[in-house]
Amino acid sequence: MSCWIRRGRVERDERQLPVDRDTVETTDMNYYEQNRQTFLEGLQTFLRIPSISTLSEHKPDIRRAAEFVRNELSAAGLVHAELIEGEGNPLVYAEWTGAPGKPTLLLYGHYDVQPPDPLDEWKSPPFEPTVRGNDIFARGSSDDKGQTYILVKAVEGLLKTKGRLPVNVKFLIEGEEETGGEHIEAYVSSRPARLKSDAAVICDTEMFAPELPTICVGLRGIVYAELHVEGANHDLHSGIYGGAAPNPMQAMAEILTALKDRNGHIQIPGFYDRVVPPSAKEREAWARLPFDEAEYTHKEMGAKELVGEPEIPLLERLWARPTLEVHGIRGGFTGEGAKTVIPARAMAKISTRLVADQRPDESAAQLKEAIRRATPKGVTAELKLIHSAAPSLVNPDNPFVRAAADAMTEVFGKQTVYIRSGGSIPIVGCFDQCLGIPSVMLGFGLPDDNLHAPNEKFHLPNFYRGIEAVAHYLETLGR
Ligand code: BES
Ligand code: MN
Ligand code: MN
Repeated sequence: MSCWIRRGRVERDERQLPVDRDTVETTDMNYYEQNRQTFLEGLQTFLRIPSISTLSEHKPDIRRAAEFVRNELSAAGLVHAELIEGEGNPLVYAEWTGAPGKPTLLLYGHYDVQPPDPLDEWKSPPFEPTVRGNDIFARGSSDDKGQTYILVKAVEGLLKTKGRLPVNVKFLIEGEEETGGEHIEAYVSSRPARLKSDAAVICDTEMFAPELPTICVGLRGIVYAELHVEGANHDLHSGIYGGAAPNPMQAMAEILTALKDRNGHIQIPGFYDRVVPPSAKEREAWARLPFDEAEYTHKEMGAKELVGEPEIPLLERLWARPTLEVHGIRGGFTGEGAKTVIPARAMAKISTRLVADQRPDESAAQLKEAIRRATPKGVTAELKLIHSAAPSLVNPDNPFVRAAADAMTEVFGKQTVYIRSGGSIPIVGCFDQCLGIPSVMLGFGLPDDNLHAPNEKFHLPNFYRGIEAVAHYLETLGR
């Protein structure tokens, strides 16, 4: 394995672009080459819309982003391009079903983004997309506007050059993925006939390393919750009452540390019972992936050392083991100087990532019970669920997955690797359970894209090559 494709390396061989035409039997690749500048400008317009789904003051921007996607789809030549209005943020739908007898693909992406804070750590403003070198920097560039736009432009190119598509497509683009994606699930489960497809195609994951075409065949699920701990009904003088009064901050610490030991083992009775270990074949494939643990630790994460279950290999910890994490704790006195007080309440945001075959409802109930048992006397602890999603596994032998891997191998000129990811895309479990279809996850993000963090970026060669890879994939499926 040559070292320049190793994950964590920044130097990349850009001479690989444009791709070697001899290996890709796709006609009209010219359209994709000639329109790169237009694609980039369209992406920049998309990225300028601050469609942050977690902040309600951005509702008008959410709508603008949805309308942008709908307009793009209808200009590309799709029919029935519309916003589907419901309780949540609008869904965008469009289809082209003029290829009877050919497969139907459900093309999924999300137009909502995470908040950009902390703002002062951005080198250029998050909603003023800026090209530096081969990367475009903006919130949502990689997750997921850039990757959603890949699907739109791939289909547009085929329609513009041939007047038809090699397969049938149904676009379903949501605006709530980053907040748990609950409304899309209600829609998908209520409209199986309209959404009937053979496979979903999703570009919302990462390549394992630069230049290495990657398909993701597993995602973790999630249970996200708030833990509220209450002691006395008002703050108390810590000298006058200390020694007698319950302390909710201390209780919070006791509860949280009771849930996971120092070796990363979750201490929730029954929690691991349904966890399915990866097969020997998968383990061996993961061990062969080009991976530099020191670079991952110190450069990509910027951490001092790795933690977690010591007896389990790193990639298995990330992809096939559940987690329990604390995201934030609020309560008590944190201002300047000293204030001697016993706070009345404390709150923590926590989540657990789930792996196949764990069930969100059951895991949440187990978590609740473990919290009840760990709660010290004198306080109450209440767990409020915010959202949850099931884990998902895709069979790598599925013909739609294999065809995608072959198309990526051709366009990138390298053997496609199969990985899983520790992240979650809530609707993937529902595509499997509600529609009975596999999700083909072709990822074009890179490990150092800074998803959800300051200076999120998308590698432009991946943007252009992603468009060509998806177009090539659709063509091969139509043969
Ligand atoms: N695209 C990500 C998930 C992802 C990232 C999968 C990298 C694979 C590789 C998605 O937008 C995301 O951030 N999901 C959230 C879901 C949550 C808010 C329910 C996540 O994983 O935290
Ligand atoms: Mn995403
Ligand atoms: Mn995300």
